[in-house]
Amino acid sequence: MVHRRKFIQASALGSLGMFFSKMTAGQSADTPVKGKPIVISTWDAGLEANKAAWEILGKGGRALDAVEKGVMVTENSQNCCVGLGANPDRDGFVTLDACIMDEFSNCGSVAFLERIKHPISVARRVMEKTPHVMLVGSGAQQFAVAEGFPLEEQKLSPDAQRAYEDWLKKSEYKGPAINVENKGHGPFAPTKLDSGEWNHDTIGMVAMDTQGNFSGSCTTSGAGFKMRGRLGDSPIIGAGLFVDNEVGACTATGQGEDVIRVAGSHSVVELMRQGLSPEMACKKIIERIVRIKKEKAKDIQVAFLAINKKGIPGAFALHPGFSYALKTGEREVLVKAKSYY
Ligand code: GLY
Repeated sequence: MVHRRKFIQASALGSLGMFFSKMTAGQSADTPVKGKPIVISTWDAGLEANKAAWEILGKGGRALDAVEKGVMVTENSQNCCVGLGANPDRDGFVTLDACIMDEFSNCGSVAFLERIKHPISVARRVMEKTPHVMLVGSGAQQFAVAEGFPLEEQKLSPDAQRAYEDWLKKSEYKGPAINVENKGHGPFAPTKLDSGEWNHDTIGMVAMDTQGNFSGSCTTSGAGFKMRGRLGDSPIIGAGLFVDNEVGACTATGQGEDVIRVAGSHSVVELMRQGLSPEMACKKIIERIVRIKKEKAKDIQVAFLAINKKGIPGAFALHPGFSYALKTGEREVLVKAKSYY
C-alpha cells in the first residue's frame, strides 16, 4: 500500500518535469547541478534501496557509496531475482552477477558468483583492489573469500524453492521470460506468466551526489532456471550499467541478451551526450531493440533508466508494467515508465 500511495504515472511526470526544470533553471546543458542529489533505481524494490542510498547522499556523501549501500538492501531481501535466496539456474544453483562504476570511469564486476551474499561489494573490491574489471565463477569466489567475505550456504527463499520445484515438473528451457508484464505482485515476487514461465529481474541504481558526480550499480541472480553459466547484461559494463561523469548514467533491466546486443546503457549515455533527454535516449534504444527483434519484441521486457548531468531522470520500457523508484531531497515516488507497446 505504501507503494501504491507513492506511485505516479509517467503522464503525471509533467509536475515532476516542472520540478526538475525549476531545479535546473539558470544551468546550462552541461552544468552539473551541485547540491541537489538524486537517486533512481529499478522496480518497486527500488523504494527501499533508495532509502539506504539516501542515508549517504542526503548527508553529502559520495554517489559510489550510496549505490553500493542501496542495492545491498535488495541483495539482503529474500526475493526471486536478487541475492542468495533467488531463483536458481536450471541445475538448482543460485549464481549472482553484479557491477559498479564511479565518476572516474573506474569499474568492477563479478559474474557467475556463488555463495556470496553481496556481489555488489565484491564488484567494488575488484574495482578498487585489482588491476582488472571483471572476475567470474570460482575465481571471483576465491577473491571474495580472500577479501573476507563469508562463504554462505545456499538457501533458496520459499518462493524460489516453490518456483524451482514447479519448473522442474517440465524442466523446459525456453530462454528467459522476463517481466512481460508486472501482474501486480511486484517484480521481486516470482510471478507466473500466462505462458507458464516465471519472470525475474534485477536492481539497477544510478545516483548523482551533491558534488554533481555520478555512480551506478547493478545486481541480479539473472534469469530464473537459466542454463548453467549463462550471464545477462547486469555484470557487463556498457550493457547493464554505464556512467560517464561528463554526461550522466544509465542502467538496464529485463532480458539481458537483448540489452547486450545493443550495448544498451552505453548507447543511452551516448545519445544523452548528443543532447537527447534521458527519456528520449532510453526510448531510442528500446526502438532499436524492436527493429532488431521485430515480432519477438512482443515476448520480452527491457527497460532503461537514466539521469543526465542536469539531474533530470527518465526511463522507457518495451512493455507496460515497468516502474522505477526516484528519491531527491523533496520527492520519494515510484514512477510508471512509458513504454513502446
Ligand atoms: N537483466 C538481467 C539479466 O538478464 O540477467
